[in-house]
Amino acid sequence: MSTSHEPTPGMEKHPLFHPPEETLRNAHVQDYVKVYQESIDDPAGFWGRIATELEWFTPWTSVLDWDPQTYTGRWFPGGTTNISHNALDRHVAKGYGNKVALIWSGDSGEERVITYSQLLDSVERLCHGLHSLGLEKGDRVSIFLPPTPEQVISMLACARMGLIHSVVFSGFSEAALKSRMEDAQPKLLITADAGFRRGKEIPLLQTARAARTGILSIRNTLVVRRKDPRFPVDASSGEKAFDELLEKNRKKGSFPPAPMGADDPLFILYTSGTTGKPKGIVHVQPGYMVGTYLTTRWVFDIRDSDVYFCVADPGWITGHSYIVYGPLLNRTTVLMAEGAPDWPDPGRWWKLIEKYRVTVFYSTPTAVRLQMRHGEKWPSGHDLSSLRLLGSVGEPINPEAWMWFRNVTGGRLPIMDTWWQTETGMHMITPLPATPLVPGSATKPFPGVEVDIVDKNGNPVPDGESGLVVIKKPWPAMFRTVFKDPDRYRQYWTEIPGMYFSGDSARRDSSGFYHLIGRIDDVIKVAGHRLGTAEVESALVSHPAVAEAAVIGKPDSLKGESLKAFVILRQGKKPETEEELSSLRKDIRHHVREELGAIAQPDEIEITDWLPKTRSGKIMRRVLRARELGLPEGDTSTLED
Ligand code: WTA
Repeated sequence: MSTSHEPTPGMEKHPLFHPPEETLRNAHVQDYVKVYQESIDDPAGFWGRIATELEWFTPWTSVLDWDPQTYTGRWFPGGTTNISHNALDRHVAKGYGNKVALIWSGDSGEERVITYSQLLDSVERLCHGLHSLGLEKGDRVSIFLPPTPEQVISMLACARMGLIHSVVFSGFSEAALKSRMEDAQPKLLITADAGFRRGKEIPLLQTARAARTGILSIRNTLVVRRKDPRFPVDASSGEKAFDELLEKNRKKGSFPPAPMGADDPLFILYTSGTTGKPKGIVHVQPGYMVGTYLTTRWVFDIRDSDVYFCVADPGWITGHSYIVYGPLLNRTTVLMAEGAPDWPDPGRWWKLIEKYRVTVFYSTPTAVRLQMRHGEKWPSGHDLSSLRLLGSVGEPINPEAWMWFRNVTGGRLPIMDTWWQTETGMHMITPLPATPLVPGSATKPFPGVEVDIVDKNGNPVPDGESGLVVIKKPWPAMFRTVFKDPDRYRQYWTEIPGMYFSGDSARRDSSGFYHLIGRIDDVIKVAGHRLGTAEVESALVSHPAVAEAAVIGKPDSLKGESLKAFVILRQGKKPETEEELSSLRKDIRHHVREELGAIAQPDEIEITDWLPKTRSGKIMRRVLRARELGLPEGDTSTLED
């Protein structure tokens, strides 16, 4: 039963939704206030207790070794473990080998079901194969695959051997893949002959082949034959068929997991920042394992009977933490879907929920708003009674979308609006199933996480006022560094000295609920995808007709934000007619697609003769945005003219 109830005097007045009885009864965390307080009073005791729920090869000597000079947090130093051992072997050894680990639904309706034993077997065979290719602990492996079981198997095999995976979203372009590989210097690239979306083939191998030219570190390319099981790989350039490598190692038996300590990386995941160059966020095994294990367990109240469906792609952090590692560490049955939410029709996801009796559904605000546009008839045409919990991630969810999501799924399910980042690795501000909810608020910090809202100098701002979101204490799944760029890592901690600065702004209300507003830096979230304005601008200026460019985010009723580009053309490139102008705009959009990928294409392109700049020549996007949206321009004293 959900009940709106009267707020306590002196507290913010907003509708509070309480969990159904059944949720309360079964919740892992019954008393949030008490658990939170204990976790903050004794973080080492708290995280240490959780870590003992997982298996270690050698016990840690302390929970955290924090260096305030370099902002390095070494979690569970002295201990060794392996995340693939904890996600696979641990369950099989306890007799859960026949439990389903992965249900995969392909773009055109194909289906695969894989048990924990089968997943472990494939992972070990791949490890033997990777070992035979000469890969060793610490080597990087770039994974450019569609969301398929092979993507998960590849990640887990790397984790098992101590190889560092760098998954690149399969919607990225050749140039985007290349620049990520130039930075990571992988020895191996894993890709597929093709991917599929809306029934259309995506030529991944063609992109991968072009991107790998000139990257001398790459010795081999493993090709998953997703489209054609007889596809001829090019052995002369080091290509090998993924299935053949697995077949060759069929009878090799187990492959021992590498002991991974507090400093041993699990993966690099590239994400956008304020400069044109994406940053390689590095996560290490032990801390990331403990953080994703616990957040999955508590935020989704994982039980053995669950079928858990997360709509992300493992190409992003949500897929890393909450399709692959967190759920498998909790011995969950994970449903993974390739393709678009509204293809072949807008009922796709609802149909999957009915078919597989999904219990936990973790979606995104943009997907919810898209479903809202298609209308209630799609969810209402399906039996969604198996659902017991919903989730949202990636961008703020507006209260209308929140209410719609709740109403079409029966009007009683709690929604976990989870705020976190690639860098944090795990949920940071989030409800728990038994805590009260406010539509549009991520509610309160997860146990063990200390959040505050401060001004530029690090002073807390009064409740009700907006400020910057900071994390005041280290947390286990915190990123370790930015690959090959320790200065960029340090910047996160020095912007506001001694605290981790998230780049987000938010307001905390008088009842202690957090309301996330958005990024304050030059990062834009378009349909939940994280893009850097500088990245898109550098793609724009590489077009032969473009001299200068500036990109801003505009509020968008579907995607949260949309991209608008202001472009100054080169001399002599000005179109004469309307037709020429429209074809130039099209061409520029196409160019950005080629340079970065479809998700980065500007929605609007305005040709202009002037861009607001500081005297030192920096484009003032803030001013452009204010003018575009009719907002006050703020301080323009540094404007050049
Ligand atoms: C935004 C995605 C409001 C935020 C997991 C953050 C959110 C950025 C939420 C990180 C949420 C993520 N409410 N905003 N529940 N979740 N964000 O690295 O601006 O792709 O800084 O990680 O997404 O994006 P990233």
